[in-house]
Amino acid sequence: MSTDLDNTSPATPTAPWPLRVALIGAGRIGSSHAEIVANRLPGVELAMIYDPIDGAAARLAAELRVPVATTSIEDVWNSPEIHAVVIAAPARSHTDLVVAAAKAGKHVFVEKPMAVTLADADRAIAAAAEAGVVLQVGFNRRFAPAFAAARSYVDAGTIGTPQLLRSLTRDPGPFKADPTRIPQWTIFFETLIHDFDTLCWLNPEAKPVRVTALADALVRPDAKAMGHLDTSVVTIEFDNGAIAVAEANFCALYGYDVRGEVFGSAGMCTAGDVRSTNMTAYTAAGISVETSRLDSDLLRSAYLGEFEAFANAARIGGPSPVPGSAARVALAIALAAIKSVEEGRGVELVEVDR
Ligand SMILES: NC(=O)c1ccc[n+]([C@@H]2O[C@H](COP(=O)([O-])OP(=O)(O)OC[C@H]3O[C@@H](n4cnc5c(N)ncnc54)[C@H](O)[C@@H]3O)[C@@H](O)[C@H]2O)c1
Repeated sequence: MSTDLDNTSPATPTAPWPLRVALIGAGRIGSSHAEIVANRLPGVELAMIYDPIDGAAARLAAELRVPVATTSIEDVWNSPEIHAVVIAAPARSHTDLVVAAAKAGKHVFVEKPMAVTLADADRAIAAAAEAGVVLQVGFNRRFAPAFAAARSYVDAGTIGTPQLLRSLTRDPGPFKADPTRIPQWTIFFETLIHDFDTLCWLNPEAKPVRVTALADALVRPDAKAMGHLDTSVVTIEFDNGAIAVAEANFCALYGYDVRGEVFGSAGMCTAGDVRSTNMTAYTAAGISVETSRLDSDLLRSAYLGEFEAFANAARIGGPSPVPGSAARVALAIALAAIKSVEEGRGVELVEVDR
């Protein structure tokens, strides 16, 4: 997979400081990102919020005391006051927004997936490289302290050569979404894409070569006929021999559950904990712990970490902490998983990387 177009060029200019950021998309995760950017990053100002839905940007801007709310995206591109954007719009709008932001000279943080086709991934990477802006993708798990520690153990050789890896995402239940409003293949493009990135990042010396996926509608079997999928297991084979398993389900009734594991020739490390704190309550009813119902709670420190890294990369002129090339690899795995489900067989990554 090509990484040569990536925006890690030392030619990326340093951004003005304080860094003024515009949020694009004031929905669920955009609102959480906005609060972090507005209140928790020294030297960074949330200066503008854009959302096409009337009132959405204005409501969030009022809450966070952001000076400008707009329903015109041109305001973002045309404002010299804005140095960087955080894109938290729906998945299929991401590539065009990345390209437009890069053309306007803004550093870009884009939520996953950066694109849903490899041609679009290449377009986004090329636009950022051409403009000399930082392009960072929202694989926040890399910044969760336990996952970062696991990666440092892998890098130090403490685990030896990775042989088995695992990553799982179980969204908190009860499942309340309307399946007719969930775009097809969301479980791969938006959920498991985190796990695909985590598994590649925890096996840094290797390339994924083959993907085999099973998927079903076990949470909402009634919606299966319309293409809804809410449960999946994906195996990824790497060129260093390691075998990885990614797993997802949309309804963990006990809370939001994100975990990872690397087993190698010299040991194992695990990361992630369904407990939201390490408080354990002992009562007449037994023993209990608290869990999170939101990713923005469970992974709070990870979201903060990714924006600190983004602001710092913009300030010093790159490189990107999570480059577009990583998003392209994770996307290639997602596309191979989809092909595997459609065709009921293992898929070589070269089959989708054309
Ligand atoms: N990294 C993570 O942990 C994480 C968590 C949740 C969501 N996400 C990703 O963030 C993105 C948004 O998810 P969400 O749950 O906040 O969705 P959402 O539907 O709650 O919010 C999307 C917002 O974008 C606005 N919007 C629609 N079209 C737009 C456009 N063309 N330009 C700008 N804004 C537009 C909508 O009006 C809405 O306010 C998705 O790609 C999702 O996969 C990432």
